[in-house]
Amino acid sequence: MLNELRNISYPWSNATIIKNKLVPINRGNVSRGLDRIVKLLEDIENPTILEIGSEIGGSANYFMKNLNSTPNIICLDIWEKRGLGKGFFSNMEPSEKASKDAGITKKIGTFSVFYHQIKEYKDNIFPIKGDRIKSIHKIHKLGIQPDLIYVDCMHTYPECLNDLIEVRKLFPNAMITGDDYFSSNLEVMKSVEEFSNIHNQKYCVYGTQYVFPFNVNEFPEKIKYKNLENILEKRKVSPGPNSREPEFFKKK
Ligand SMILES: C[S@@+](CC[C@H](N)C(=O)[O-])C[C@H]1O[C@@H](n2cnc3c(N)ncnc32)[C@H](O)[C@@H]1O
Repeated sequence: MLNELRNISYPWSNATIIKNKLVPINRGNVSRGLDRIVKLLEDIENPTILEIGSEIGGSANYFMKNLNSTPNIICLDIWEKRGLGKGFFSNMEPSEKASKDAGITKKIGTFSVFYHQIKEYKDNIFPIKGDRIKSIHKIHKLGIQPDLIYVDCMHTYPECLNDLIEVRKLFPNAMITGDDYFSSNLEVMKSVEEFSNIHNQKYCVYGTQYVFPFNVNEFPEKIKYKNLENILEKRKVSPGPNSREPEFFKKK
């Protein structure tokens, strides 16, 4: 199956080799709560992760570095040459400074920076270039069922909601997680809340991440809530009503 996945992957040879030193891509992954997502995968040997929206490989790099068992990560993106920013808030122009720091130029597109950031793990990374909906159907056709899906693509409603609905339909047993819960005028939060209502499934919020687990009752044992108090205090907005986090939080 992995061979078939490699056959539909975007060839690494399309990446331009980058010689310059780039600004490190650590975008505060721990404070953002990605460490909690890693914990959810602790008991799964060589988990399969499907990342929707991989851009310059920030989260893929984090998963590779921090999981104790090597995952296979399927990374989806359009990898346009435009620069960093598109897709993040999909109605926004790319940020020149962020693009420059990341090493993105007219010649060196986001795919090359992505390659540069994850190249040491490339045997376990499968980049699929193109619109994410078409790509997830291709993956489903190959019979792949990811353990965890990380949605970090368009942050607009209803695109984000559409991503959630589509992955739940095709991959019913996967944990669904995603980033930037509080971003984009709370459009991600709105999508997550609506998805939660449609499926009658609660979710948790850690930092900026949201998580729909297989079974929400597993969470209190698996996750340590140590720093959540601080994170909640710093927030100007509380998670939506379907989020279980405050309830768990009270238990500690
Ligand atoms: C927030 S960024 C992802 C950041 C990434 N997870 C990281 O850690 O570096 C969102 C990405 O979604 C991609 N994107 C936007 N629309 C898309 C679409 N229709 N299909 C696939 N990717 C898309 C953008 O190109 C952008 O790179």
